[in-house]
Amino acid sequence: MNEAVRDPAQPIIEIENLSISFFTRKGEIPAVMDFSCTVMPGEAMGIVGESGCGKSTVSLGIMRDLSNIGKIVGGRIKFQGRDMGEMSDEELRAIRGNKIAMIYQEPMASLNPAMKIGQQLMEVPLIHDKVSKEEAYNRALEMVRAVKLPDPERMMRSYPHQLSGGQQQRIVIAMALLSKPALLLLDEPTTALDVTVEAGIVELVKGLGEKFGTSMIFVSHNLGLILETCDRITVMYSGEAVETGKIEDVFDRMRHPYTQGLFRSIPLPGADKNSRPLISIPGQ
Ligand SMILES: Nc1ncnc2c1ncn2[C@@H]1O[C@H](COP(=O)(O)OP(=O)(O)OP(=O)(O)O)[C@@H](O)[C@H]1O
Ligand SMILES: [Mg+2]
Repeated sequence: MNEAVRDPAQPIIEIENLSISFFTRKGEIPAVMDFSCTVMPGEAMGIVGESGCGKSTVSLGIMRDLSNIGKIVGGRIKFQGRDMGEMSDEELRAIRGNKIAMIYQEPMASLNPAMKIGQQLMEVPLIHDKVSKEEAYNRALEMVRAVKLPDPERMMRSYPHQLSGGQQQRIVIAMALLSKPALLLLDEPTTALDVTVEAGIVELVKGLGEKFGTSMIFVSHNLGLILETCDRITVMYSGEAVETGKIEDVFDRMRHPYTQGLFRSIPLPGADKNSRPLISIPGQ
């Protein structure tokens, strides 16, 4: 399913000393400061941290979708070895939503309510790969199967509102994968779903990453989800990456009081979403 064999030693994405600020009437709000992380082909990187620490800003920065008040004020992002800051608008457009796909928290934000699922999915190969209608239908149907939806033919004939939230999110994932992205960004893709549906989606994403060799950046405030899906983890606190490494290594370092404090403010595996009170960490 992937395009030609990728150089396994070439990172998919390298974020180097990235700083992003929002410029409001009240002045500059630094949202991301000196943030670095690298994702290799086929690797899943988890970004975890408490609300407001800058996780979404990092992913929007990668998509270069920071609205008119957000700006990259330092550092750079390299995609497959090339500085995205030096790419033309045309090149960026070709990468966004194509080589880099993003999945948001709310599935309906990515679906057209007036268009049948099948038609929406078919548009991807029709436009991207200029294949025949029949081929587009077959690819779409195959992907609906890959995301493990029941009765795929019927799904193709349904409108988004006829699906549950979890089913809609699976369709959004199918749509993203149809463009064969090198990098899939998932920003809290399961927060709007209930816990059992959430577990199913996490399982699915993990399996698909392996099946299609897609690199992933999985953003969540839920450490348990990151542990289940990712190879490596970056912990953010107040705009900065304070820990990064293999899941096991970061866990080893969790013995340090500072990191312990961080993890205590994050929902742990198996914990009820709301059972754990937020523990504040000294700092601004
Ligand atoms: N459009 C914006 N205008 C002004 N400030 C913003 C904007 N978007 C984000 N910020 C600020 O940037 C910081 C980081 O926000 P961000 O949305 O990246 O956090 P997050 O880690 O994704 O949080 P959550 O877990 O709640 O989604 C916050 O202080 C936030 O208030
Ligand atoms: Mg966010």
